[in-house]
Formats: sequence, C-alpha cells, structure tokens
Amino acid sequence: MSLKGRNFLKMMDFTAEEIQELIDLSAELKDKKKKGIPHDSLRGKNVALIFEKTSTRTRCSFEVAAADLGMHSTYLDPEGSQIGKKESIPDTARVLGRMYDGIEYRGYGQEIVEDLAKYAGVPVWNGLTNESHPTQMIADMLTVKEHLGKLKGVKFVYMGDARYNMGNSLMVTCAKLGMDFVACTDPKYYPEDKLVNYAKEEAKKSGGSVTLTDDVAEGCKDADVIYTDVWVSMGEPDEIWEERIKDLTPYRVDDKALSYAKDTVIFMHCLPAFHDLKTKIGAEIHEKYGLNEMEVTDSVFEGPHSVVFDEAENRMHSIKAIMYATLS
Ligand code: CP
Ligand code: NVA
Repeated sequence: MSLKGRNFLKMMDFTAEEIQELIDLSAELKDKKKKGIPHDSLRGKNVALIFEKTSTRTRCSFEVAAADLGMHSTYLDPEGSQIGKKESIPDTARVLGRMYDGIEYRGYGQEIVEDLAKYAGVPVWNGLTNESHPTQMIADMLTVKEHLGKLKGVKFVYMGDARYNMGNSLMVTCAKLGMDFVACTDPKYYPEDKLVNYAKEEAKKSGGSVTLTDDVAEGCKDADVIYTDVWVSMGEPDEIWEERIKDLTPYRVDDKALSYAKDTVIFMHCLPAFHDLKTKIGAEIHEKYGLNEMEVTDSVFEGPHSVVFDEAENRMHSIKAIMYATLS
C-alpha cells in the first residue's frame, strides 16, 4: 500500500490498515535509528515547518526526523513569516509548494490546514489544530503496542477535556483500530455528537467500542490505558481556567483513578503536562487557585505506570514514518 503524495490532515482520512502501516513503519525506522543503520534516502528534499502555535516535541521531531532522512528543513515561527498577516493561506501554499517537497502546519482551525493542502500541490502534515492532532496518534499507538503488545481489545480511557484536538483524535483512532475507547469526563466535555456517531460507526466495523461516562470508577474499571491532556489548550483564553478547574478536577488522573484499572495499566499524556509547580503557568494557577497539580498528580506522572517519555520519543520516529511514507 502506498501513501505517496497523500496529505496527513486528520485520522478520519485514513483506514485502519493505513494507520497500522504507519505504526509498523515507525517501529521499523525506530529500530534502524537504534542500530545506527542510515535511512537518509530522501536526500535532496526540503520541508517547510510552519508553527503558528508554540511547540517542543512536534517541532524537534520534524527537524530531527527530516535530518535523519537526509532532508533539509526550514522553521517558520509564529512571528517570523507573512502568513495570515500579509499573505493568505492559498497564496502561501502556492509559494511554499514551489520550493518544498512537503509542508508541516501547526495552528488554529482545521479548515486552515485543509486549505493549505488544497493549494500546496505537495503533501501537507497537520502538526496540531484545534480539532485534531494526527501525528500524535501514530506515536501514541506505537507506544501502546510496545507496552501492551497489542491494540485490538485494549480499553483506552481518556479523562479531562475530551472535546478538543486530543480527545477527538484518540476517539477516532481507537475506534478504527478495534479498541474500547472511553471518554470519562463531565458531559460538557464529551466530543461533539457528529464525531461520536462517526467513531461509533467505525467501532462497529472494527469490533471496538465508544463509551461516554461521567463515572470515574466505572470509566476506569479494568482500563489498560489512562490518558489525559491539559485542561486549557493553546489559543484558549486565560479566563476559562476557573471553570475548567471546577469542572475537571473530579477527572484528574490520580492514584484513585489508577486503582480501578488493571495492575498493568499505563498512564499516557501527549505533554506538556501540569503535574507540579515548576512551570510559569503552573505557578500562576497555584497562586490564584491553590492547586499544586492539575490534570495529573505528580505521583502518577512520576510513578511506575507512566510511559510519557517513551511516548514523547515516539513522536520523532512516527513523524519520520509519516514524512517517509508520503514522500517516497
Ligand atoms: N505533544 C505535543 O504536540 O507537544 P508540543 O506542543 O511540544 O509539540
Ligand atoms: N490540547 C493541547 C495539546 C498540546 C499538544 C493543546 O492544543 O494545547
């Protein structure tokens, strides 16, 4: 199966087989990297990396992966280009498409990255929008497979803000791969009905399931994976913190939530995470609301079930696989 020339914009665009192929390719490229086997067959190609929001993992993954594949990359930061301010997305796409073999875009609405892809004439990779974070999915599924040895039949529980990029993408990915996805949160934060219905249809085909619940004991019962993300995402207003803290504190991942799960449960988080006071925002929230930790407790984050740094490493291997598959 060839993904050459395809965009990578959202998980809905891919079949279970295609997703599986990208997971397997990520594992293969990871193995090559560990063994020091060169895999720079994309020498001479160039990629543009557009970031309208900040990043550590995604940016570094694209840059390291491009270099390992023999490619050159250009980083465009949120301030350093004409994009959006003086030049439209269709015009930017047609300029960059003449110079580059592929374009990564991180920003706001999903329609922006879809528009970029429409005009670029080269593969476009979504490095995160408000609605989806597809490159993170391949890394996450690779991580689950490495730790649990399988994907089908895995009970995957997502706690917290399930109606944003991470919750949406995980629900669709798990449903396609025959996993049992549970959004365990306040009903205000369930993914939107249309997407839930789509995921339920996919789950029917794959033998998986999609469940929404506000009951932590029930939701986390016998979980294989417990996953969370920040309560306030990039681009959301600071004023929203108070409401999110009130609504989502019952869905913080703590030792109690883990106690309902299987002994072998793994804890995952796309990162960055607010699990202590060592960040500027973490300290500000502590000052204002008295919280020492937010979506996950420090004991879970640092504890034996946590695989968050394996997951972060896998961003690089999987982004490499996505670029390789769509460019060669
Ligand atoms: N998980 C993730 O996308 O991290 P960054 O925001 O650091 O890229
Ligand atoms: N939901 C988070 C994910 C960060 C990787 C955000 O959009 O900020």
